[in-house]
Amino acid sequence: MATNRTFTMIKPDGVENGHIGNILAMITTAGFKIVSLKLTQLTIADAQAFYAVHAARPFYGELVEFMTRGPIVAAILEKDNAVEDFRTLIGATNPAEAAEGTIRKAYATSIGENAVHGSDSDENAAIEGAFHFAGREQF
Ligand code: TYD
Repeated sequence: MATNRTFTMIKPDGVENGHIGNILAMITTAGFKIVSLKLTQLTIADAQAFYAVHAARPFYGELVEFMTRGPIVAAILEKDNAVEDFRTLIGATNPAEAAEGTIRKAYATSIGENAVHGSDSDENAAIEGAFHFAGREQF
């Protein structure tokens, strides 16, 4: 059964380009409630661990470098069918393929620098949320 929470990051490009407010507005307008929120920066070890599933992929080194180059916004979001609905809201990984009205269509600049992360399963949403937030920070 789908749970009602997902995890997101506004990636370093989204923060650098001044899109925090606009992206959070798209998220809340789409009906997601913010239950955890912080501005933080990943260490190299954090990014390597967070993206460990991609360790063998050719883009892994670049991805880790990109994700650690500046602050990110981490958030846990709540809504019915959160994981699937949020993946729809962010759009395709490659912004050239992202649908109109999606966050990546509006703010991603390339497949690597694609503005936002969204968990791909309920299990990963729980793991990723716990990676960034203590229980007392989840409202
Ligand atoms: P992935 O989990 O496939 O995409 P998504 O973020 O849509 O769930 O990949 C994780 C991140 O890795 C992706 O957001 C950007 C980066 N990436 C690349 O830089 N190049 C690529 O070819 C792919 C597939 C991903």
